[in-house]
Amino acid sequence: MAATTEEHPEPDDLEPPEAQEEGAPRAAPHLDEEARERRAAALTHVRLFGDPVLKSRALPVERFDEILREEVARMGQLMHDAIGVGLAATQLGVMHRLLVYRVAPDAPIVAVANPEVEWSGKAKEILEEGCLSLPGIHVDVERPIHVRIRARDERGEKMTIEATGLEARVLQHEIDHLDGVLMLERTSRDQRKEAMRALRESALPA
Ligand code: NI
Repeated sequence: MAATTEEHPEPDDLEPPEAQEEGAPRAAPHLDEEARERRAAALTHVRLFGDPVLKSRALPVERFDEILREEVARMGQLMHDAIGVGLAATQLGVMHRLLVYRVAPDAPIVAVANPEVEWSGKAKEILEEGCLSLPGIHVDVERPIHVRIRARDERGEKMTIEATGLEARVLQHEIDHLDGVLMLERTSRDQRKEAMRALRESALPA
């Protein structure tokens, strides 16, 4: 997921200004040139809307080895540089069920392999999301506010994550990526049409 926006007032509505979804702040005038360049460089590794890997379901992680941990470190660095709050391996073209996320700038990056939503609460809310694979696009998505996820960490140890609010949202968005589902499929018809129009226009040569 891309971090959300300056238009969002304050963190108690779940969207800290620095941290909306995977990554694309709507506008980030506070970034200095170096951070902007780092972000642009990181984004060159992220597959964009239209790439078939984003529509494909990823396979379970089976080997919890040093190679996996290196991949986790690389994903964490890319997510950090891209100013995202979540990143799925599929967005880098690696088709296994692995994601990283960090919902607060000072929190540790968490790696999650083979996540399963074990439970989701009945209460839902609609919030705006962004996605590193859909730069500049923001749509409203309704999701459960509370979820419990069972998964493995990068060493293969079992873990359970009880998540609420932004954390729950990011996890659900990234798990969708592992199933080949984009936020466009979770929004209203009108917003999807509008997003598709914006994507077509941004793809036109200048
Ligand atoms: Ni995304």
